[in-house]
Amino acid sequence: RRLLAGASVAGAYGAGIGLAGRFRTAFAAPEPLGIEAAATKAGIIDGKPTREMMTFRAAGIGDGTIPPVLRLKRGQPFAARLTNRLEEPTTIHWHGLRIPNAMDGVPFLTQPYVYTGDNFDYAFTPPDAGTFWYHPHCNTLTQMGRGMAGMLIVEDDKDPVFDAEIDLNLRDFRLGGNGQFIAQFKPRDAAKSGTFGTIRTANWRQEPVYDAPAGGLVRLRIAVTDVTRIYNLKLDGAQAVIAALDSQALPAHEAFDLATVSPGQRLDLIVRMPDDEGATVTLSDIRPSTPKIVASLRSVGRSLDRALGDAPLLAPNAPVELDLSSAEEVPLLLSATAEDAARESFCGSLGFSFWAINKKPWPGDTADPTAPLAEMKLGRTYVLDLENVTPHAHPIHLHGMNFVPLASSTRPVRKLATDTYLVLPDEKVKLALVADNPGDWVIHCHIIEHQKTGMTSYLRVV
Ligand code: C2O
Ligand code: CU
Repeated sequence: RRLLAGASVAGAYGAGIGLAGRFRTAFAAPEPLGIEAAATKAGIIDGKPTREMMTFRAAGIGDGTIPPVLRLKRGQPFAARLTNRLEEPTTIHWHGLRIPNAMDGVPFLTQPYVYTGDNFDYAFTPPDAGTFWYHPHCNTLTQMGRGMAGMLIVEDDKDPVFDAEIDLNLRDFRLGGNGQFIAQFKPRDAAKSGTFGTIRTANWRQEPVYDAPAGGLVRLRIAVTDVTRIYNLKLDGAQAVIAALDSQALPAHEAFDLATVSPGQRLDLIVRMPDDEGATVTLSDIRPSTPKIVASLRSVGRSLDRALGDAPLLAPNAPVELDLSSAEEVPLLLSATAEDAARESFCGSLGFSFWAINKKPWPGDTADPTAPLAEMKLGRTYVLDLENVTPHAHPIHLHGMNFVPLASSTRPVRKLATDTYLVLPDEKVKLALVADNPGDWVIHCHIIEHQKTGMTSYLRVV
C-alpha cells in the first residue's frame, strides 16, 4: 500500500473498511503517512559523499535521500506523523497551504518543538490545488540549508493531463571543494542579500537531464527552496507558457520568457518539447550575470506533435473574496536595524539582528514573541501596506492565508492570490487579504538569514 502512496498519497485513504470500518470511513482521520526527519549523506558533488545532510523520509515514497515529493488531493484529508530522528528539535511547515493554525508547524506560536525521538501528528485537508512545498520551521538555516525542503503537490480531479510532469526542487548547497558543508552564515552577507550557496542543484543533482516525450506538452513544476538565492529563470530550446504562479492558475496562459522566482515561490510552466529525438531544452538561472544551467529536458521518441496553443488551462482555486470598501490598512515597514534583540532558542537565533518589521526585530519561533503586528477580525478584509526602505529585495511570506497584490509604487502587479511576494528595494506594495483563518500567523522574509536576524513577525486573526 505504501508503494501506491508514492503515486498518490490519497490512495491509502479508502482503506478503513472492516468490522468497525463503516464508522471509520466516515469519521476517522486517514492512516498517517510516516515521515522521519533524519540525517543522511548524498553525493552532491560527483561521487564525493557529503556528510551531515538532513532530510525528510516518507515510507515508500522516493529514494529515501532527497525529501520526497508528496502528492495530496484537494479536499481530501491528509495525515502525517513526523518522527524526529535528528539530534535537535524540528517541525514541519506546509508552505502555502491554507490549513488550521495548529498544523502550521511554527514552534511556540502553533505547536511545541518535536524533540529527538518524539512524534507530532499533522492532519489537514488542503483547500487549494497546485505546487507547494514543506520544510521545518526550526533552526531553519541549518536544517533547510542541509536539505530539509521537499515539494508538495496538491492535485485536483479537474487537473488537465499533460504528456509528462517533471518536478524541480531548485536550491543550492554551501559546500567546500571536499564536498563538505562550509559555514552557512556570514554576518556581513546576512546584513545584505544573504550568504549564497556554492553548488546549484535541481532535485539535489547538478544539471540533471530528464527525458520527456518529443513534441509533447510537459508540465514543469518548479519550487525555489533555497535559503538565499532569487532565481531569474530562462528556458532555451523550446517554447513554453506560464500556467501557474505560487499554486494559482493563471486565467490565460502567458508566453514564458524570463521569470524571477524567489525563495518560497513556485512557477508552473507548460513546455512544448522539440520534435527531434535527442534535442535538449535547458532551464538556466541568468542572475546575477553568467547563465548557469539548472536542469535540462531531452526529447525522446517520435514526435507527439502537440500545439502549445492547445495546452489546457489549469483549474483555478477559489478566489479570495475581498471587501475593499471596509478594508483596514496595516502598515508594515521593512527596515534594517541594529537593535540588539538576539534571543535564546533551540530554533536557531543567529545572535545578530540586522532586520526588522515595524522596527521590531524578532528571529521567529522563540518563547518570547513580540506582540502581533495587528489583530485582525475574522472574516474582514485588510490591506497590508508594505514598505521596503532597504536596498535589498525581500520575499515576504505569510502563513495560513493568501494575499492579493493590489498596487505597487514601482511596477504593475498581477492581481493573483499568493503567499510570497518579492518586495523590491524601495518598493511600496499593497497586499489585500481576508482574515479568514483564525490563529497567529507568521509573516517573514524567506531569505532565511533575514528571517533569523529579525525580519519576522506575525498577524493575529481572532
Ligand atoms: Cu516557507 Cu515560514 O515558511
Ligand atoms: Cu529579506
